[in-house]
Amino acid sequence: MSRLRCDQTPAWAELHALFEASGKNFDLKAAFADDPQRFSCFSQDAPHVFADLSKNLIDGEAEALLLALARQCGLEQHRDAMFAGERINSTEQRAVMHFLLRNPPLAQYERDKVAIKRIASVSAELAQTHATLDAMLAYAEQVRADDAITDIVNIGIGGSDLGPQMAVLALCEFAMPGKRFHFVSNVDGQELASVLAQCRPQNTLFLIASKTFTTTETMTNAHSARAWFEAQGGQNIGRHFAALTTHVDAAHAFGITTTFGFWDWVGGRYSLWSAIGLPIALAIGAAGFREFLAGAHAMDEHFRTTELARNLPVRLGLLDVWYRNFHGFGSRSIAPYSSALRRFPAYLQQLEMESNGKRVDSGGKALPFDTSPVLWGEPGTNGQHAYFQMLHQGTTVVPVEFVALKHAAHALPGHHDKLLANVLAQAQALMQGKADAGGHRHFPGNRPSTFLLLERLTPASLGALIALQEHRVFVSGAVWGINSFDQWGVELGKVLAKDIEPRLQNGDVSGLDGSTAGLLQRLR
Ligand code: F6P
Repeated sequence: MSRLRCDQTPAWAELHALFEASGKNFDLKAAFADDPQRFSCFSQDAPHVFADLSKNLIDGEAEALLLALARQCGLEQHRDAMFAGERINSTEQRAVMHFLLRNPPLAQYERDKVAIKRIASVSAELAQTHATLDAMLAYAEQVRADDAITDIVNIGIGGSDLGPQMAVLALCEFAMPGKRFHFVSNVDGQELASVLAQCRPQNTLFLIASKTFTTTETMTNAHSARAWFEAQGGQNIGRHFAALTTHVDAAHAFGITTTFGFWDWVGGRYSLWSAIGLPIALAIGAAGFREFLAGAHAMDEHFRTTELARNLPVRLGLLDVWYRNFHGFGSRSIAPYSSALRRFPAYLQQLEMESNGKRVDSGGKALPFDTSPVLWGEPGTNGQHAYFQMLHQGTTVVPVEFVALKHAAHALPGHHDKLLANVLAQAQALMQGKADAGGHRHFPGNRPSTFLLLERLTPASLGALIALQEHRVFVSGAVWGINSFDQWGVELGKVLAKDIEPRLQNGDVSGLDGSTAGLLQRLR
């Protein structure tokens, strides 16, 4: 179905007029003074996540127009097309069904005729999904019970690394003792070498995680891991290597017999719910992994069924459009006030920038407006002692997304209140500023932030938080009229690296630009 691109809608022009008339001078402190209900209007509950959007540069009029924009762009139809299993990844002619990986099995809908009818178009895929999930979780439990396996080394990159790594760290409170997890992604051998130095072949399980099973970094690391295993006297690759891939045949050809598959309708950056999530299942167990899926499914249902005005992924995604295309903000800083979420910003970078870093619409036409912002960040309070100076007093406004946990995962007295006091204070300081001291000590304030609050970090709440982010990326991508599910932009560098690699050996610089040729010669 062809979609109306945002800039071709009446709401887009109205939003521009509103921005010029009042939006660009929006004053947060005045907005709170004028409207005692502002906090309740711009905050809401969603499954496992409470969100306060009230410290954003937005009012009811702007939000209403943004919702109209979403409707005029066919957001609901596009969302429904995804949930119906249509091939919305148009450049690769693929369905986009990572949500199915967290959908309960068909049997659970026994009496619900409406649900059965809705799921009918994807029921075959759902059955496959559950068969693989059951097999993978049974395997996870078997490895967890195997005391001889002490080290699990995940070899993968991009979506085959960032999601599982982020989630294993985030859920460390729920991880079983006695197993160490290592993540090797970089082709820089220093990474693998330092992990191997800590491992013994008889105690190690290597997970070769690659959707395509062709990615250079992963295959190079996988070959080196196997060579190390054999050189150290390791025996039984079947026991010590498992592959997580859509290309099970390629894994077999590599010599791996223990394989867990997934499908081309799962994008790499959306794959931690699939077999790629095996490290998570190994860490938190089958029951924990099912809770993780259930938390995400609850967010899917919220996104699929809630009216747009109270639909959290929709509100966040539209705010992203408002900031990027009207305020012109070029980046968003992610500030999880939880050290367990320290890889969350890196994970979100791939999710959003690989999905929405596009310069043409889904029909291939160049876009006359901006798309993905730059995402960046570090856990709080560390960021406060590094770059928050710029957030408070720099010349560029950067919306900040805080993530906080009501309850800590540890019992050390005093820490959590200090952490929470800091996150509240930072959001407050960004908004309020401090105008009574001039010059260097002046804080302009009026700097926007969003506050996401979880009761505690659990498999379910993490699942919901991640699904929330996936869907908000879907929303802005749908409004922009782009294909959020391909990633052609990563291909050129891969091709050029293949051309350059032999030149490092043979010194051939023919046909290279002057800079690359000069550098190559210095590197030899
Ligand atoms: O190069 C980008 C990319 O294709 C990502 O989209 C993907 O997550 C990553 O590489 C790893 O790919 P694979 O899982 O196929 O090894």
